[in-house]
Amino acid sequence: MIEIEKLHKTYENGKEVLTGLDLTVEDGKLLCLLGASGSGKSTLLNIIAGLVKPTSGDVLFEGKSVLKIKPKDRGIAFVFQDFALYPHMTVLENIMFPLRVGVKRLSKEEARKKACHYIELTKLEKFLNEKPHNLSGGHQQSVAIAGALAQEPKILLLDEPLNDLDAVLRSNMREEIRMLVKSMNITTIFVTHDQEEALSLSDKIALIQNGQIIQIDEPQDLYLEPKNLYVAKFMGVPSMNLFIMRNQGNQLVSSDLVIHTNRLNQEKFKSQMFREDYFVGIRPEHFIITEENSLFTTNVTYKELVGRECILHFRINKKSAKLAVDTNCRVMVGSKISIGIDYNSIHIFTIDGKRVY
Ligand SMILES: Nc1ncnc2c1ncn2[C@@H]1O[C@H](COP(=O)(O)OP(=O)(O)OP(=O)(O)O)[C@@H](O)[C@H]1O
Ligand SMILES: [Mg+2]
Repeated sequence: MIEIEKLHKTYENGKEVLTGLDLTVEDGKLLCLLGASGSGKSTLLNIIAGLVKPTSGDVLFEGKSVLKIKPKDRGIAFVFQDFALYPHMTVLENIMFPLRVGVKRLSKEEARKKACHYIELTKLEKFLNEKPHNLSGGHQQSVAIAGALAQEPKILLLDEPLNDLDAVLRSNMREEIRMLVKSMNITTIFVTHDQEEALSLSDKIALIQNGQIIQIDEPQDLYLEPKNLYVAKFMGVPSMNLFIMRNQGNQLVSSDLVIHTNRLNQEKFKSQMFREDYFVGIRPEHFIITEENSLFTTNVTYKELVGRECILHFRINKKSAKLAVDTNCRVMVGSKISIGIDYNSIHIFTIDGKRVY
């Protein structure tokens, strides 16, 4: 188990990056650390690996602090965001080298056997004797991953390891990594800023904002039950439609939309609504084209085909909003549509971002 307690990091130039971060990763679990650029993901990973010293706080493996343990003795394998292969070594030698000099100190034959096994698993056989500069960026990244896996570590840290891969290779490697770390029971932290990757890969997702974990949950809970407005806005493509609405007792009112709050599930309210204005969040798939119980009528201004779904753009409350329908929906740009909402799935937040419903 990895436990991170009250971690603070201020760099020498005064930049405060981690601001009291707590995080627990259970044994054998794959956690995705998801967050915007600059939120502190690499800093956190570098501290866990022992490459950067925290200003305060602790990092525990199996209940013991590892801050005084040297990186090479922590039982960790790491694929850096700006990873580098040894340019003068072949793919095979690159993977063998850490096995020969690390904690394990395998014999040449053992190291070769293990390296070949992981080269096969990551489908790099044809590059076995190539030097890194003859490989594409994506294949070099795959070599770095194979090298980390070959160390058969207790803990694997991957910092945006698939960024250089094309979509197909990326999806295959994602599946391969998940299968391997699960079968080897490796506790894994996988950094990504791609929410689709996080949703498809992880046992749990930890969302980091300004150096703190603001929500850690199973993937679908992050999407369906965001703790606050930041999480709600971050998760989902296209993002949640948000409207500022005025609280008028049993109604939330804006120029084109009225929500009857007594139609909401009263048990789901987290706090009472006594403020004047609130954000109402409606995901694109929770607007419904319907003649019955429609709340407003509008025109389709733009239509985007995105694989399984079709996104219809329309205007409401003087701004653009989006609605998701099945690709076989034949609505054309310019058509008039009547729209209702799935009352069970709306979200309400205070203006400063706290979740109310
Ligand atoms: N050695 C350093 N000295 C000073 N500031 C640093 C140092 N390393 C990182 N930073 C700053 O700390 C902040 C967080 O950086 P970090 O690399 O941890 O973010 P990240 O979440 O990994 O971002 P990205 O998604 O772009 O990789 C950034 O503003 C960065 O400029
Ligand atoms: Mg980074």
